[in-house]
Amino acid sequence: MDKYMIDGGRRLYGTVKIQSAKNSVLPLFAASILTDKPVTIRETPAITDALCMAQILRELGAEVRFHGNDVTIDSSNACSHEISSALTKELRSSVFMLGSLLTRFRRALIAYPGGCDIGLRPIDLHLNALKHLGVDITERDGYILCKCDRLRGAEILLDFPSVGATENIMLAAVMAEGRTVLQGAAKEPEIVDLQNFLNAMGAKIAGAGSDVIEIEGVKKLNGVSYKPVKDRIEAGTFLLACAACGGEMEVVGVKADNIGLLLHKLRENGCKIHIKNDKIRITSNGRLKCNRRIETMPFPGFPTDLQAQTTALNASCEGGALIVENLFETRFKYVPELQKMGADIEVKGRNAFVRGVPKLHGASLVAGDLRGGAALVIAALGAEGVSEVLDLSHIDRGYSDLQGKLKNLGAEIKRVRV
Ligand code: UD1
Repeated sequence: MDKYMIDGGRRLYGTVKIQSAKNSVLPLFAASILTDKPVTIRETPAITDALCMAQILRELGAEVRFHGNDVTIDSSNACSHEISSALTKELRSSVFMLGSLLTRFRRALIAYPGGCDIGLRPIDLHLNALKHLGVDITERDGYILCKCDRLRGAEILLDFPSVGATENIMLAAVMAEGRTVLQGAAKEPEIVDLQNFLNAMGAKIAGAGSDVIEIEGVKKLNGVSYKPVKDRIEAGTFLLACAACGGEMEVVGVKADNIGLLLHKLRENGCKIHIKNDKIRITSNGRLKCNRRIETMPFPGFPTDLQAQTTALNASCEGGALIVENLFETRFKYVPELQKMGADIEVKGRNAFVRGVPKLHGASLVAGDLRGGAALVIAALGAEGVSEVLDLSHIDRGYSDLQGKLKNLGAEIKRVRV
């Protein structure tokens, strides 16, 4: 298991090119089995979640080939509808495979999904929606068996705009008989990307990015070569790192609208933000001010996937901040690690009260989940002295070459085999 050694206190300067979005690439992998023609996903980031999705597809009988960062999936010989528990436990996104497998085989058997340990993460919304489309569901011994003779378009209303459930419904309805109208859909940019990808394959989907998505079932889908949207969470992580360290950074590839609230909050901290097309330039000088209140919400609200990194920034700003986590119950597990660095943060249920301290100091830290791990890296970069961040397996799930990119920006960070 590797660790980072970080000597904090260096200002960050330079340009960073943002990877394709993890949360877009994973459902696109799932969607690739909707056709028996080859599908190429271009500029796939080198993250372990993508490798895990590739492994799931191989287990189904698909051929998955990497040419540099382009991945070609040929599922013409795919014949299995079962996903082993070893893989679904690694990766919660394997739940998208339900919709795709049902469209392709009318059957799916998958172990209850895993992923980051950040809360209960039930999948009731996914399963209820699939029932509306005519799917029979039995749950036994940690496995979910879904089957149907045919998928029928339906009116579906989601109680909560779940990202995964919205994507699963799109994947199950895309070739269903007739029309599906999904009300209360999630509006994340990655949903729009899935719509664009499926439409490029010949689907008839409209409305992604709004509350209502309309899907007219089609008879067949074609192969496609597709470049996914860039990762707004990776972009946000770099902007927050620059804010915490001071310096000037240009983040390239992400539309400012996709991280509008973060940019607003960074300005509130005292950073200067300059936007030109898909380039976001941040300048951070002197001690920043705490954000008074940040509350995570579904898009276009403040992303839960940037909550931990934002708390890490606030930990050494001037004043106090209230951080409210509305999406996942236990998403403050990284806080005790920040406390080891001298952070003054009190967690009560869904609220974290941050009292900014003048400086964090280096410590030995354990990354317990993906975004919490990124938060520790940000804290360590901005701290005085040396920190080690242990267990990089979570960070590797979602960030490609985080260390190399930070080093290019002037950070003193090494990756060391333990
Ligand atoms: C996706 C993202 C994840 C992000 C999250 C919220 C991917 C691969 N992951 O996760 O990075 O943090 O969106 O933006 O895209 N819920 C239920 N029942 C369900 C489904 C969800 O109660 O059937 C609840 C969850 O417990 C959670 C909330 O809804 O409290 C949001 O979950 P959801 O939007 O589904 O997140 P994911 O798709 O798992």
